[in-house]
Amino acid sequence: MNTVSQSVASDAVFRAVGLTKIYASGPGPITVFSNLNFEVRRGESLAIVGESGAGKSSLMYLLGGLDAPTSGALYFGNQNIAGLRDAALAEFRNREIGFVWQNHSLLPEFTALENVMMPLLIRGQAHQAASAATMARLEEVGLKARVTHRVGELSGGEQQRVAIARALASDPSVLLADEPTGNLDYHTGEAIIELLLGLQKRRPLTAIFVTHNLAFASRCNRVLELREGTLVPWAPAGPLVENPVSPSYGGSYV
Ligand SMILES: Nc1ncnc2c1ncn2[C@@H]1O[C@H](COP(=O)(O)OP(=O)(O)OP(=O)(O)O)[C@@H](O)[C@H]1O
Ligand SMILES: [Mg+2]
Repeated sequence: MNTVSQSVASDAVFRAVGLTKIYASGPGPITVFSNLNFEVRRGESLAIVGESGAGKSSLMYLLGGLDAPTSGALYFGNQNIAGLRDAALAEFRNREIGFVWQNHSLLPEFTALENVMMPLLIRGQAHQAASAATMARLEEVGLKARVTHRVGELSGGEQQRVAIARALASDPSVLLADEPTGNLDYHTGEAIIELLLGLQKRRPLTAIFVTHNLAFASRCNRVLELREGTLVPWAPAGPLVENPVSPSYGGSYV
């Protein structure tokens, strides 16, 4: 392997080759996207934009190992996660990925502490270590004073902070956030964007953000748009986007 291909290979967290998703639905198959070729680089913040129904969430499910592509390969490092069986995929997910969704899916009857800590305990982490990690994450997202509050009693913005703490508690290498500010008012959304971008830079973490908020997107390292089944550089801010070509693949990646 030459120096160039080594550096490209080690720089890419994800590499998709011919990634295609077709849903088999009642009225007929729905091709959401086909033949996507792209890379996500280690430590970058990547925004994915696109109209409603363009397939952003579908793509995030594939990246997070929650769903399998219809065809194509999706490499995480050197491993094609498209070919993993359920148990191996779950392990990949637990080890590498932190998720934040628009609807945070927290347990409202439980405290912030319990919500963040529970997945760690389920994964077999010792109570003391899980508790320490939980407290550190809740402090990091600015919720030190709310750890024993029930999540159902917290504001929308505070709940999203709990969800971010939960996503990062197990120290994932990749953060996937699908419209993390979608349900929040403008100012609360801005605070969550600051928090996410700050966390991403400090760690550093590879972060993929799906958003309809173009101001948020333009603060990320790169912006790609899902449009008519393809993934293309999002253009308005010109210098934001790049088009690397991997020597290990004949075509070009976005
Ligand atoms: N499980 C499914 N079965 C059949 N079709 C689906 C399924 N999930 C999504 N789709 C379809 O795939 C397309 C892409 O959906 P997806 O949720 O990925 O879009 P999106 O870009 O995230 O949209 P939004 O911005 O509204 O969240 C839509 O046409 C949707 O109806
Ligand atoms: Mg969506």
